[in-house]
Amino acid sequence: MRGRIQGEKSRSAAGAGRREKEEIMAIREVREIGDDILTKKCKDVPKMTLRTKILIGDMLETMYDKCGVGLAAPQVGVLKKIVVIDVGEGPIVLINPEIIETSGEQTGEEGCLSVPGKWGIVTRPEHVKVRALNQEMEPFEMEGEGLLARAFCHEIDHLYGQLYVDKAEDGLHDVTYEQDEEEETEE
Ligand code: NI
Repeated sequence: MRGRIQGEKSRSAAGAGRREKEEIMAIREVREIGDDILTKKCKDVPKMTLRTKILIGDMLETMYDKCGVGLAAPQVGVLKKIVVIDVGEGPIVLINPEIIETSGEQTGEEGCLSVPGKWGIVTRPEHVKVRALNQEMEPFEMEGEGLLARAFCHEIDHLYGQLYVDKAEDGLHDVTYEQDEEEETEE
């Protein structure tokens, strides 16, 4: 998922997690809308392997490189239930995630690294609780609200072949950066 569609301010915070990583990771190609793989359902991850560890590292690196706040494995061409998220509070890795509780409602802008240059208005729950496995394959639960709740929903949708574009309430809009840049130079 892309966050802060009309602004760049969260980007540097989102990059912080990357610098802490010492392993060498690779940026993978992000599949774009129209690619069949984005419409397919993912399989559970049965056990942690070196290959999966490398995939997770690459997913984080790719997300930070593209200034995203979330990325799901099918977006890099792998049909496994793995999601990475960083809404500016550090990296979160969810393996085989499920949404187990939702409440409230939020309506706001959403974008996706697989739908470059576009955003749409999507209504999501305000609070979301997920259950998942961590990288040690230990179960945990995590609650999110606001942007994190939105990221949980958006990324888990990817694991079921769903894109936000089908939920966008007013169609898709083009991202414009000009307004932001003007504001920054005038200040
Ligand atoms: Ni997305």
